Amino acid sequence: MQSIKRPLRLAFAVTERVFDRAFGPAWNPLHNLGALGFFYYWIVAVSGIYLYIGFDTGVERVYASIERLTHAQWYLGGVMRSLHRYASDALVAMALLHLLREFSFDRMRGVRWFSWLTGVPILWLVYASGVSGYWLVWDELAQYIALTTSEWLDALPFFGEPIARNFLAPNSLDDRFFTLLIFMHIAIPLILLFILWVHLQRLSKPRINPPRGLAIGTLAMMLALSLVHPAVSQPPADLAKVPGDVGLDWFYLAAYPLFDHLSYAWVWGLAGVLTVGLAALPWLPPLRRPRAAVVDLEHCNGCGRCVQDCPYAAVAMVPRSDGQPFAQQAVVDAALCVGCGICMAACPPSMPFRRIAELATGIDVPDASLNDLRERTHAAAERLSVSPRVLVFGCDCSVDMAALANESVAGVSLPCIGALPPSFVDYVLSRGLADGVFLTGGSEGACVNRLGIQWTELRMDGERDPRLRDRVPRERMARRWAARHEATSLAGEIAAFRAQLATLPAIRPPAPAQPADIRETVA
Ligand code: HEM
Ligand code: SF4
Ligand code: SF4
Repeated sequence: MQSIKRPLRLAFAVTERVFDRAFGPAWNPLHNLGALGFFYYWIVAVSGIYLYIGFDTGVERVYASIERLTHAQWYLGGVMRSLHRYASDALVAMALLHLLREFSFDRMRGVRWFSWLTGVPILWLVYASGVSGYWLVWDELAQYIALTTSEWLDALPFFGEPIARNFLAPNSLDDRFFTLLIFMHIAIPLILLFILWVHLQRLSKPRINPPRGLAIGTLAMMLALSLVHPAVSQPPADLAKVPGDVGLDWFYLAAYPLFDHLSYAWVWGLAGVLTVGLAALPWLPPLRRPRAAVVDLEHCNGCGRCVQDCPYAAVAMVPRSDGQPFAQQAVVDAALCVGCGICMAACPPSMPFRRIAELATGIDVPDASLNDLRERTHAAAERLSVSPRVLVFGCDCSVDMAALANESVAGVSLPCIGALPPSFVDYVLSRGLADGVFLTGGSEGACVNRLGIQWTELRMDGERDPRLRDRVPRERMARRWAARHEATSLAGEIAAFRAQLATLPAIRPPAPAQPADIRETVA
């Protein structure tokens, strides 16, 4: 599976860098795929309501009613129709890109299976909405879709009367059919909206609105396309004739040519295998799960920061159970926790300065604990022998720390850069463990743990708790979010940072300490 994911991830990482330069990281469309999907959904909904008002469900009048909207009222009805079509196409493109991106960055593995699994019916519903929409126009393309789709559905043993019979001869279709069809064309997107809501239930603070500039830009592009290249119908359906060459919309109808080469049963088989295979991907192969975060009530004051910062809604506050004078305590739902450690960094007692032998905090991750982080920080600092010395904090999903290491650069890798309490930067500089601290992690907008980079930036800039203290000399800090393949350019930035540090007064390294003495000397 990695042999598919790796090149895909690289392709996304490289394209995203190009888009970062063109649009800026915040407006990068690839960082906003899910949010853009919602935006397109709303464009489809609003334009659909307008079209519905002018739509006539009479079998003889349906085609004419859409023609009227398209041509007689081109400036409004026509634009709405084009927006409806182009936003629907964009929705498919977005859903497929979003699926590929989440897959390539492994954002669906282990306990993160939920959004992926709920994404599978979303795909079916998006396609069903689009196909039923093309059917409504009742032109030659609709006739082709009607016949092919109904024969495909008839291959299932559910329908007493074959549906395809409705499309075999003139007069076999009555007005009720289009009433039923428009009902379905409205009901399916409503079910889709409900499943989209379910899709986000295990994420906290999901981004469902794109940045305003990106939304305006994409809407303006669609409006321009609607005016330059309006959506139009093909000749009207005629059940007395077999439709000839119909132009397909490749976003929605790309699978239809399959019907020319495979039996309906085979297409069902293929669709079933693809659906089940897609649904099974989060467990292929099974993931070794990091252990879930653990709350230590002795150190928990019930502040709720861990709940605010967990990207997966895995922590909740409940009434206090241990008699301490706080109203609440944190509790972790192990089934939702990915072990990223972001909560540990948010917890107030997560400070390396304390004298206690074994550092403990309110919420900690057993596989990358606060104590372990302090020990690894010391171990990395001891490897630095040439000034200016730079300590890099990075994350497991970004550039390999070993690739950056030399006598003046040493790295500590965390499950997520969001698992670094800001006090560690203060600690490293105030104790002379290094002359400068460099932060890195998965590139901007591509944090594997969704909010790790965002929280790190806000905490280090003093805009979110826990804040980096004012006393920390900012000129001794640098950060650059870099994807895994960007080791060379990252090393270049670290070298530039070292050159800047060389202009500052040197910091005296601490006296060599025995590992057993470390806790005595840190306070
Ligand atoms: C109309 C289609 C879709 C829309 C509008 C949509 C929307 C979203 C949004 C807004 C997020 C949260 C992004 C964030 O804040 O980090 C998200 C996450 C996600 N979606 Fe979708 N999605 C769609 C289809 C799909 C499909 C088809 C799949 C895969 C089969 C999928 C898989 C995922 C996964 C794996 C996550 C990330 C969960 C995590 O970070 O743990 N989505 N989606
Ligand atoms: S951040 Fe720490 S102290 Fe605050 S509620 Fe969570 S575990 Fe308790
Ligand atoms: S380790 Fe990550 S997923 Fe688990 S509770 Fe903490 S922040 Fe949430």
